[in-house]
Amino acid sequence: MKQSVKLIAGNWKMNGLGASLVEVEALRRALGDGPAACRVALCPPATLVERMAAAVRGGAIEVGGQDCRAEISGAHTGGVSAEMLKDAGAGLVIVGHSERRQEFGESDLLVSAKAEAAVRAGLAPIVCVGETLQQREAGQAVEVVRGQVMNSLPHAVTGRDFAVAYEPVWAIGTGLTPTLEQIEAVHRAIRAAMIERLGLASAAAPILYGGSVKPDNARDILAVPEVGGALVGGASLKAADFLPIIRAA
Ligand code: 13P
Repeated sequence: MKQSVKLIAGNWKMNGLGASLVEVEALRRALGDGPAACRVALCPPATLVERMAAAVRGGAIEVGGQDCRAEISGAHTGGVSAEMLKDAGAGLVIVGHSERRQEFGESDLLVSAKAEAAVRAGLAPIVCVGETLQQREAGQAVEVVRGQVMNSLPHAVTGRDFAVAYEPVWAIGTGLTPTLEQIEAVHRAIRAAMIERLGLASAAAPILYGGSVKPDNARDILAVPEVGGALVGGASLKAADFLPIIRAA
């Protein structure tokens, strides 16, 4: 990933049926198949990865998973491995989303193992970090996020694609966002931690901002230094909302 090319990734979360692929087709038509100004990815539920990958084949839109198991295969009922996502046509996978950290008690150690699994399978992990409101109010945002970055990243990224997504938990789905200064401060801290942890090999990996990114705030957020793209939830479900965010990059 070149630092200058932003990555706009949509996270559909637990939304989307086969009929929702009309949105992807609309997006593909609107973007055209020529060279794009930024990278665009959509992460649908696992049930749609293969169909979405088929719908965007030959075009510029990349497809990703929302989570993976750390293991390749085995007796893990309900689990989906990074290799399975790759086989279904994914090129990326989100790991460590705060909803998984909260709902499934995922630790930094587990997130790091999942990121490793993604690299092993040839997927680019998007490693999510972010503080809670309580941590933000206690003045601990930078410290918490730095700790998550130090402990959640894969061990090596040599020659591999990856991204970090800063998603303050209190900004997800709430319509609230940090100030641009707050976003910049955390992104700078993340960059420093990435370089400390992985060396200069990580200097070109984008740091995405996520949490209530909408058509009306995308341009300002994407112009913040060290913001290398966005991870978009609700506004990625409809092409009409996602397109203006892509165009703002
Ligand atoms: P919203 O854009 O809906 O706030 O969700 C952000 C998010 O969690 C993306 O992973």
